[in-house]
Amino acid sequence: MTVPALALEGVGVDRAEVPVIHDVTLDAAPGAVTVILGANGAGKTTLMDGIAGLAKVRSGTIRLDGTPIEKLATFRRARAGLGYVEQARTTFRTLTVEQNLLVSQSGDGDLGTVYKLFPELDKRRNLQAGYLSGGEQQMVVLGRALVTAPKVVLIDEMSLGLAPLVVRRLMTTVGELASMGIAVVLIEQFANLALAAGDHAHVLRKGGVVFSGPCSELRGDDERLHRLYFGGPPLTTPGPSTGPVPGGGATPDAPRNGPQESERP
Ligand SMILES: Nc1ncnc2c1ncn2[C@@H]1O[C@H](COP(=O)(O)OP(=O)(O)O)[C@@H](O)[C@H]1O
Ligand SMILES: [Mg+2]
Repeated sequence: MTVPALALEGVGVDRAEVPVIHDVTLDAAPGAVTVILGANGAGKTTLMDGIAGLAKVRSGTIRLDGTPIEKLATFRRARAGLGYVEQARTTFRTLTVEQNLLVSQSGDGDLGTVYKLFPELDKRRNLQAGYLSGGEQQMVVLGRALVTAPKVVLIDEMSLGLAPLVVRRLMTTVGELASMGIAVVLIEQFANLALAAGDHAHVLRKGGVVFSGPCSELRGDDERLHRLYFGGPPLTTPGPSTGPVPGGGATPDAPRNGPQESERP
């Protein structure tokens, strides 16, 4: 069996001294896309921050290639091979594309890999990042994680505020990262796009894992997703935020005031 690049066991994470994540056990394999889904406020970002060292890990172990990292400082986790594309992270707008990549580069990180993945950036190496489109800026942000030659990349909602076509373009990159042997952990508001791109999925509700299984099990099953997100019996009518999303199907990423029954499958 392949050793998981990232393995969490019984992980609890606090945010401002409040326990938010409880007893999360999951792993991410090299060369695969592991999708983390859940409603707003379910704890996805807190879990990623805990893995990266930006939120306090209260309990459990986090292993990177078999080595516990949960007690290491953030920069040591990064140096050990953990790349983190934070939610709403932006570029250094007054630096050029190339300078953005250079300031983040470390270890065996290679700008050529980024330019190959994103020919759009290759053409704009010397342009200030502030002049790029939203999608291109997100490419720079992804590129900055890649020039650290990571073993694991955590990507938190890279599609925020981007047009559907651009999101699709970025999703193909996610698959390419995995085929380079990276373990990709993908958090995505567009559940069906993520499930289409992913291998394995975990759904978080109220800080705990309520589903772990192959993405294929959830693909296109909006009703089951909704139940996993919010608990309770299946709905017969879609909620207020379950409109169409790129890639087809509904996004169950609705506000947290939906039904909150915590029946676990
Ligand atoms: N900086 C913070 N201080 C206190 N509580 C926070 C902070 N950030 C998030 N939380 C709380 O932690 C919970 C999980 O939030 P978050 O991890 O951002 O969820 P998600 O990324 O799934 O939307 C929510 O109840 C939220 O209110
Ligand atoms: Mg979040």
